Amino acid sequence: MNALGNKHILLGVTGGIAAYKAPELVRRLRELGATVQVVLTAAGGAFITPLTLQAVSGQPVHTQLLSAEAESGMGHIELARWADLILIAPCTADFMARLAQGRSDDLLAACCLASRGAIAVAPAMNAGMWDSAATQRNLRQLIADGVQVFGPASGSQACGEVGEGRLLEPAELVACCAGLFGTNALTDKQVLITAGPTLEDMDPVRYLGNRSSGRMGYALAAAARDAGAVVTLISGPVALAEPPGVTLLRVRSASDMHHAVLERIAGMDIFIGAAAVADYRPAQASARKIKKDQEHLTLELVRNPDILAEVAARSPRPFTVGFAAETDDVLTYARRKLEDKNLDLIAANLVGAGQGFDVADNALSVLWPGGQQELPRASKPTLARQLVKLIAERLRASA
Ligand code: CTP
Repeated sequence: MNALGNKHILLGVTGGIAAYKAPELVRRLRELGATVQVVLTAAGGAFITPLTLQAVSGQPVHTQLLSAEAESGMGHIELARWADLILIAPCTADFMARLAQGRSDDLLAACCLASRGAIAVAPAMNAGMWDSAATQRNLRQLIADGVQVFGPASGSQACGEVGEGRLLEPAELVACCAGLFGTNALTDKQVLITAGPTLEDMDPVRYLGNRSSGRMGYALAAAARDAGAVVTLISGPVALAEPPGVTLLRVRSASDMHHAVLERIAGMDIFIGAAAVADYRPAQASARKIKKDQEHLTLELVRNPDILAEVAARSPRPFTVGFAAETDDVLTYARRKLEDKNLDLIAANLVGAGQGFDVADNALSVLWPGGQQELPRASKPTLARQLVKLIAERLRASA
C-alpha cells in the first residue's frame, strides 16, 4: 500500500511522555511512502533525542527558529511550504494553546502559522488537562480554524489516571493521515447526499426551521468526492461555500428536497440522508403576511414525506445511509430507526446544548445490521472521512 506516496509530512514533536512513540510513527509514515521531516520543540527534546528522530526519518531534525544555519537551508517558511501536512504528535495542552493563539515564538509554531496546507494535531495529555475548560476552548478554536484533530484515545495514562488524553496509536495516526489525502474507496460511485435544514414557510416572511448548519452533509460530500465518487449534494438553506467538484442543488422546503431527490435517485449507488428534514409543514402557507389580529394563533401542521424511508423502500435501491440525532438513548433509538426504515447504515449522535447541531465537532455511533462502530469526537471533516470509509467497506461487504 502506498497511501502516502510522495507526500511531505512535517512531524512536530512536543514535550509529552508520548514522544517516545514518535520514532514508530515516523517509521510507519515512511512505510506508506511519505517523506518525513521532524521539528522537535525544546520540551520535546527533553523526552527524545534529535539523533533518534534523525535516524528513523533519514533527515536532519529541526529545532531552532533563529539559526543562521537553518535560515540558509530549511527555515520556517521553507518547511511550511514543503509540507503537505504538518502533523503534531504528541501535541501537548500547551502547544494546543499556542497554536490556538497563533503564536510564532518557536520553530514549530512559526511553521504552523506560515502553513497554507493541512495541519493536524494528536493531543496527548493528562485527562484533567484535556477536560479543562481552557483546553476544550482551545480545541474548539482549533477546529474552527480548520485544524484536524486526531483523538485523543481514552485509557490508562502514564500519570496513573484513567481517562481521555492518550495519544492515538501510531497505526491509527497513520490511518488518519492517509484518510486526509483521499482514497479510491468510492471510485466512480454515484453518491446523492442531502444536507442542511429545510425551511417550511408559514407566510411570505416567516418559516419553521431548525438549527442544522449543513456542515456534516457538506463534509460528507467533500469526503466522498475525495474518495473518487461522483457527488450530487441537495442542500437546504445554509451559510456554507459550495464544495468544489460536487454538483450542488439548493432547495428550501422538505417538499422541494423530496422532489429533487426523487428526480435524481435512479442509478445512484449510495444515498446519504444527512439533512435535518422538517417532519411537519404548515398545512397551508398563507399567501399574505399573517397579521397579529387574534389573541391566539393555532398553526395546523401536516406530515412531510420521509425522504430517507422512501429511498430505502425502492427496488432496486442505493446503499442507504441515515442519520439519527437524539437527545437520549441514542443507540436504542438509532437501531430502531435502522430497522424501521430498513437502512443499510445509520450514524447516530447526541444533540443538545453545544452538541451535534450547529457546532464544528461531533462524535458518532455508526450502526448497521449486525454491527456497530464508535467514531470518537473529531472535527466534522475528519468524521466525514471516517464515515465515508466505513460506508465504502459496508458497501463492498453487501455486494
Ligand atoms: N429524514 C428524511 N425525511 C424526513 C425526515 C427525516 O429523509 N421527512 C431523514 C434524515 O435526513 C435523517 C433521518 O431521516 O437521515 C432522521 O430520521 P427521523 O426518524 O426522521 O428522525 P427524527 O425526525 O429525529 O425522528 P423522531 O422525531 O421520530 O426521532
